[in-house]
Amino acid sequence: MKRSIEDHAARFDEIASEYDDEGSDEYRACANLVIEHAAPDTDDVVLDLGTGTGAIALALAPDAERVVGRDISEGMMSEAETKAAEEGLENVAFGRGTFREPEYDGEVDIVTSNFAMHHLSDEEKREAISAIADLGPRTFVLGDVMFFGEPNPDEPFYSPEVDDPATVGFLADALTDAGFSLSAVERVHEQVGVLVAERGRPDADQNE
Ligand SMILES: C[S@@+](CC[C@H](N)C(=O)[O-])C[C@H]1O[C@@H](n2cnc3c(N)ncnc32)[C@H](O)[C@@H]1O
Repeated sequence: MKRSIEDHAARFDEIASEYDDEGSDEYRACANLVIEHAAPDTDDVVLDLGTGTGAIALALAPDAERVVGRDISEGMMSEAETKAAEEGLENVAFGRGTFREPEYDGEVDIVTSNFAMHHLSDEEKREAISAIADLGPRTFVLGDVMFFGEPNPDEPFYSPEVDDPATVGFLADALTDAGFSLSAVERVHEQVGVLVAERGRPDADQNE
C-alpha cells in the first residue's frame, strides 16, 4: 500500500460528499457488471468490501436477504447510510472493516468489491483474497482497475502515487491459489475489468 489505511480513509472522507457526482463511463460499466454478476438470490447474504458510498451494496440490497458493507472511510459510509435510509432499504448495514480484516464473521454467500482493491499492494491483495476465501463465499466478484496489457501510468484510471493496480494474471493466480475458479473475465477497458470467481462449499467438496 503506497499510503497508510488512515491516509486513504482521510482522502475518501474529504471527497465523500462529491464522490457520487464523479465517475467515468468505465467506472459505471464496471459497477454494472459487478452488480449483474453478483445477482444474489433472495436468501443470499452479500459482503461488499471497499463499499464506499454504497454503489454496489445499495443496488444489490433489494434482491438479497442482507447486504453488509465494509470500508475504512466513515465519510463514504455515512453517504451510503443516508442513501439507504432515503431508499427505505432496511436489510443493508455498513461498518468499518478492511480487505484483510473485514471484521465480519457471519455467513456470507457472495463477496463483491468495486474499484477499491487497487489501493493495496500485490502482496496485500493476496492476503485480502485469502481472507475473503476464508469467509467461505460461493462467489467473489471483483471489479477494479487491473492491467490487461502493459501498465500505462498516463491513463486516467489510477494515480500511480497512491494506487497500485495488479495485472489480470496476478489476480487470476491469487484467486486460483485461494481455491477459487474463474468463471468470467470481463474486460471493460485495457485497465479496467471484472473477474468472477467461484468456490465450492467446503461441505459440498467433502461429498464429492
Ligand atoms: C473508489 S472508492 C469505490 C467505492 C465503491 N465500491 C464504488 O464502486 O463506488 C474506493 C473505496 O475503497 C475504500 N478503501 C480503500 N482502502 C481500503 C481498505 N484497505 N479496506 C477497505 N476499504 C478500503 C475507500 O475508503 C473508498 O471508499
